[in-house]
Amino acid sequence: MSETKDKGTPSLSRRSLLKAGLASGVAAGAAGAARAAGDPLITEIQDWNRYLGDGVDAAPYGLPSEFESEVVRRNVPWLTADAVASINFTPLHELDGIITPNGLCFERHHGGVAQIRPQDHRLMINGLVDTPLVFTMEDLKRFPRENHVYFLECAANGGMEWRGSQLNGCQFTHGMVHNVMYTGVKLKTLLEEAGVKTNGKWVLPEGADAAHMTRSIPMEKALDDCLVAWKMNGEALRAEQGYPLRLVVPGWEGNMWVKWLRRLEVGDQPWHHREETSKYTDLLETGKARRFTWVMDPKSVITSPSPQMPVSHGKGPMVISGLAWSGNGRITRVDVSLDGGRNWETARIDGPSLSKSLHRFYLDIDWDGSEMLIQSRAMDEHGFYQPTKNELRAARGENSIYHNNGIQTWYVQKNGAVENVEVS
Ligand code: MTE
Ligand code: CO
Repeated sequence: MSETKDKGTPSLSRRSLLKAGLASGVAAGAAGAARAAGDPLITEIQDWNRYLGDGVDAAPYGLPSEFESEVVRRNVPWLTADAVASINFTPLHELDGIITPNGLCFERHHGGVAQIRPQDHRLMINGLVDTPLVFTMEDLKRFPRENHVYFLECAANGGMEWRGSQLNGCQFTHGMVHNVMYTGVKLKTLLEEAGVKTNGKWVLPEGADAAHMTRSIPMEKALDDCLVAWKMNGEALRAEQGYPLRLVVPGWEGNMWVKWLRRLEVGDQPWHHREETSKYTDLLETGKARRFTWVMDPKSVITSPSPQMPVSHGKGPMVISGLAWSGNGRITRVDVSLDGGRNWETARIDGPSLSKSLHRFYLDIDWDGSEMLIQSRAMDEHGFYQPTKNELRAARGENSIYHNNGIQTWYVQKNGAVENVEVS
């Protein structure tokens, strides 16, 4: 499926790195002059060398460096009428590796953030079960627990880009995704404790927030890999992420990952609630709607360079970096194009390659300083890969919002500025 290797971007040998380093030294004339004259940052004593710093406990709960204050979640105010039923976005362009720090996980609330004392929280299992049960948080922590890293992607991620490029930055085009290690108990374990009756085929998780979020989950998925989780990246869930308890539905659309989880009802058919009828369905050109589109298909995005992360150096060595993920399992391959999809080169996947988790990829190039149209295309272990935006629209029409996994293009200009464009 992949075409020839792009001849314009040879991989870096030690020699070309050296040459490129020299070239960029010449291009960055100011830095070179400073070095020749003696860099005051080296020759003069700085405040941080002269005075003692804060002692331990200055921040009992640590915070990022003050110089990282731009690394924050951001929203797009005109997208929604009110912040309590809204969304903000993970700053993907600022992150590396695969784990999303807890304070940067995007938030999506339909009725604001519920603040629940863990002592006051209850989880009920009722419906078609032998023994209806109610658990406290303490009860849940006595069941055997597991740790898993999974991505959560809102089905609406990229929805604003369906008809064409719109928002300038991967934070806004792709930032409704985060990747976290969860600690919790398998949903299967809790359902077995209650005893699912033979006609119990669906599970309805319900949130304790003002939105009372509910979705219908088929029993096969509930008994497969779903978790009832109370920790993220080792610490308690953040209030924004459903403290003290949330459902984890690996690989499936974020809307089903009910936060502030208070009830699990077992039924013999789906409930057809609001979030699976008027919302989270895709209206096709025929007038019919796709429903129960649970799995998040393979997707990827280049996070750097990108509109919020322009190229700050001249020509020479450049690290192209991005993220890829699939709700079907592991990512096995990511191809990157520098010329709008004509030629593709296979990128290097680095770090853990886990099922239904973000994957980090890199392509190390020697940039000749000319314009580029950079794209990435992910493929998963089942052979599914990302469509172009045109392929997506041909299949689903123009009305859709959800499940946009089309190939993203960034236009890198000679001066290093980067723009969101569409090449399909
Ligand atoms: N659960 C409850 N109880 N209330 C909500 O508003 N939003 C859903 C889901 N679970 C929601 C919820 C949606 S649409 C998404 S995309 C994810 O939570 C977002 O999870 P996050 O806020 O941890 O990123
Ligand atoms: Co969502």
